[in-house]
Amino acid sequence: MELPFQHIDKDGLPKHIAIIMDGNGRWAKQQSKPRVFGHKNGVRAVRDVTEAAAELGIEYLTLYAFSKENWKRPQVEVDTLMKLFITTVSKELKTLNENNIRLEAIGDLDALPDDTLHALTYAIENTAHNDHMTLVLALNYSARWEIVETAKQLAGQVADGTSDVRDIDEELFESHLTTCGYPDPELLIRTSGESRVSNFLLWQISYSELIFTSTLWPDFTKADLYRAIAEYQRRERRFGMTSEQVTKS
Ligand code: FPP
Repeated sequence: MELPFQHIDKDGLPKHIAIIMDGNGRWAKQQSKPRVFGHKNGVRAVRDVTEAAAELGIEYLTLYAFSKENWKRPQVEVDTLMKLFITTVSKELKTLNENNIRLEAIGDLDALPDDTLHALTYAIENTAHNDHMTLVLALNYSARWEIVETAKQLAGQVADGTSDVRDIDEELFESHLTTCGYPDPELLIRTSGESRVSNFLLWQISYSELIFTSTLWPDFTKADLYRAIAEYQRRERRFGMTSEQVTKS
């Protein structure tokens, strides 16, 4: 199959791509396997997409790996996912360093099991020097939680007099989000045919292009990422302006 890679304008790449990796369970069910089989096979797609993004020169790739709502899943699935995060970050540490990729994480990390947090922290600390691409795992993350946490921090600062309520603006608010320092994702991809954003980066995707694909996450390949980027590049991003204004600028 011919890759649509040549259809990508290298000068118009998104700096930040965010992905809701969905469909692992359905992929497993199609093969009459337990749901966790889908998650294990989803790791291949994580690896391929990370490699493709780094090869292209994408600066930030954020993957929604576990939401705050995912704790409601059967315990065996939660336990398997937590172990899978440990084995994956530990196994991939060498490759991350070879490819100059920094690993970071957003979410309520302190509430992760100790061994998961430990493996994650170890990989984060041992890739902190890399600067080609930042791979961000959203773990125990939800956007409403993040926004409430930010509101609490700012309210605390106003209460203790370190901030003035009149100084609160979008820039200050953003500087307290877990994604502080990352550009907003220009492109959000969700796999598996669901067309919703499920509490992911609600503040940050205000102007993102949303691409929903029916491909289930374990089947998602480099070619699918290239296709999504090519589609993103065909879209006109207006940020509230008119089409004529955008064309002139
Ligand atoms: C959603 O599919 C997927 C998840 C909640 C977990 C994603 C985890 C991985 C891809 C494994 C490893 C990841 C890293 C970063 C090490 P689903 O279970 O909701 O699928 P369904 O909608 O078909 O049930």
